[in-house]
Amino acid sequence: MTLAAAPNIASGQGAPPPRHVAIIMDGNGRWAKRRLLPRIAGHKKGVEAAKAVARAAGDLGVEVLTLYAFSTENWRRPADEVSDLMGLLRHFIEHDVKELQQHGVRLKIIGDYQTLQPDLVDLIDRAVEDTASNTRTTLVIALNYGSQAEIARAAQSLAADVRQGILDVNAIDAAALEARLYTADIPPPDLIIRTSGEQRLSNFLMWQAAYAELMFVDTLWPDFGKSHLAEALNVYAARERRFGGL
Ligand code: FPP
Repeated sequence: MTLAAAPNIASGQGAPPPRHVAIIMDGNGRWAKRRLLPRIAGHKKGVEAAKAVARAAGDLGVEVLTLYAFSTENWRRPADEVSDLMGLLRHFIEHDVKELQQHGVRLKIIGDYQTLQPDLVDLIDRAVEDTASNTRTTLVIALNYGSQAEIARAAQSLAADVRQGILDVNAIDAAALEARLYTADIPPPDLIIRTSGEQRLSNFLMWQAAYAELMFVDTLWPDFGKSHLAEALNVYAARERRFGGL
């Protein structure tokens, strides 16, 4: 769906519930530091928060929940932290997706995850396949994801089709580019939340965020739960979205 054709345009009423909520899960390290624990302890608690919020999203009527788990820039972290994060991700895919499956959660991955370890890629592909028919909530995990790389990849794909003569250069518009993003089959985010008080998008869904409501909350990600998501949806409901109209 193109952003220009996004629903719920200027009704003059408060916004209807968000179909798609995307979250930048920030503050795991600080959560651990405050408790004199190693950073991995914060990430572990962060996974628990992710599971709780994924279950809550369904209960609160959110159709799509996107979580920014690992960015293209996170490779810059110390090797042992990267390895810990990959270990947590592996555990999540192997054990926790089964539980989410019982809550009607469909798993989708955005990002260049195919470059991860081959056995992890297989696990991910199997989990995506096993949950493909679930309809309650789509849990999108952004993995080795960066907006700039995503947009460059879409541009490359358009250029390749032009070179092959199957696409007219004048046919390249926003919808054509959007159709080649990882998110082509899901609605754009209505609400993007970042935890821990930081106020940046950090290369997350930058194209898709064109008309998203942005919310920055002070809660550190490991402390974020169903009540925080419910509160964010209440704040969202009071906002008026105009999509460039009046
Ligand atoms: C930011 O906290 C968090 C991350 C870079 C990783 C997020 C990953 C998880 C919560 C675990 C994986 C999730 C799933 C769904 C398997 P930070 O380390 O930047 O915190 P800081 O800014 O306080 O140091």
